[in-house]
Amino acid sequence: MTRKILLTGGAGYIGSHTYAALCEAGYDVAILDNFDNARPDVPDRLEVITGKPVTVHRCDILDPAALARVFASDHFDGVVHFAARKAVGESQRMPLEYIETNCTGLINLLKAMRAAEVFNIVFSSSATVYAPTTDWPIPEGAALGYASTYAYTKLMGEQIIAQVAAADPRWHYGVLRYFNPAGAHTSALLGEDPSDIPNNLMPYIAKVATGELPALNVFGNDYPTPDGTGVRDYIHVMDLARGHVLSLTELIERGNSHTLNLGTGQGYSVLDMLNAYSRACGKELPYVVAPRREGDLDCYYGDPTKAEALLGFRAERGLDAMCADSWAWVSRKSNMRGQG
Ligand code: UD1
Repeated sequence: MTRKILLTGGAGYIGSHTYAALCEAGYDVAILDNFDNARPDVPDRLEVITGKPVTVHRCDILDPAALARVFASDHFDGVVHFAARKAVGESQRMPLEYIETNCTGLINLLKAMRAAEVFNIVFSSSATVYAPTTDWPIPEGAALGYASTYAYTKLMGEQIIAQVAAADPRWHYGVLRYFNPAGAHTSALLGEDPSDIPNNLMPYIAKVATGELPALNVFGNDYPTPDGTGVRDYIHVMDLARGHVLSLTELIERGNSHTLNLGTGQGYSVLDMLNAYSRACGKELPYVVAPRREGDLDCYYGDPTKAEALLGFRAERGLDAMCADSWAWVSRKSNMRGQG
């Protein structure tokens, strides 16, 4: 029997890739999104990739009545929950909005799920829930903490789900802590598409590659790392998407709740990323060394062994694939803009 899944935030960057991966794995998926931070044509592109019509519920998770209508429209076997606010800097300026969307929205969703007797949830968390450490790679049992309101809401989300599941054994959850997502769909039809100047490294490099931005600002080259620039655990978004499929299947087939890192266990520096992207786009990308960014750590990468032991998950796509797929996506978009 085909399992039906509701994908909140399914039109976003990781959500849309997960939609494609779930369909490929044989799930029947519906998207719930308010399109606040997603392009309206993502469902059309998903139709091209999957060859099937896409069901979209335009709905805000802050609207309990609308959520109830979505759950009344169909029976779902599980929910993958991405819908959230996600910009760290913005969360410091808008704490109430972040807490409202990320925590109240989650509570609304859990209530709607309970009312509809849907008890499997995969939750999009973040490696930002770990307290600063100098012990690399970070295992799931490391101390937790938060340095931003965004991180606070993700940690709170994890704890809300754990409390709810502890009180009612029907619940099964997969909490997935991502490291740094990068890359795009191999079709070049999906990818990260920020409308403003990006804060994160990969979308910024992509805009240097297309000529929209003049040069990368490398935030500090005097960190205690091999080349002095910050080291992170970049994971291809298609690997990340596959991790969600495996997590969901583990819940539905075996009822095994879990909290897992999704990363590669491999750290790359800012200059490693820039050089890899230069190879992918066939030109040397310029950079200037800028002061360190406040709040940045020298190093941040995860221990991926638990996800491999439980789900058989292992990131398969390396740095070159992340950059080549990102470049295919952004160059296709900028060519389209060029055609008017
Ligand atoms: C950030 C968030 C993290 C979130 C993640 C999503 C912060 C403090 N953390 O992580 O919560 O989960 O994004 O991907 O914002 N860099 C440059 N120049 C740039 C941009 C970045 O040199 O223009 C460097 C940074 O100093 C860092 C590395 O690139 O060393 C990665 O930065 P970024 O992509 O912003 O991710 P994180 O800071 O790791």
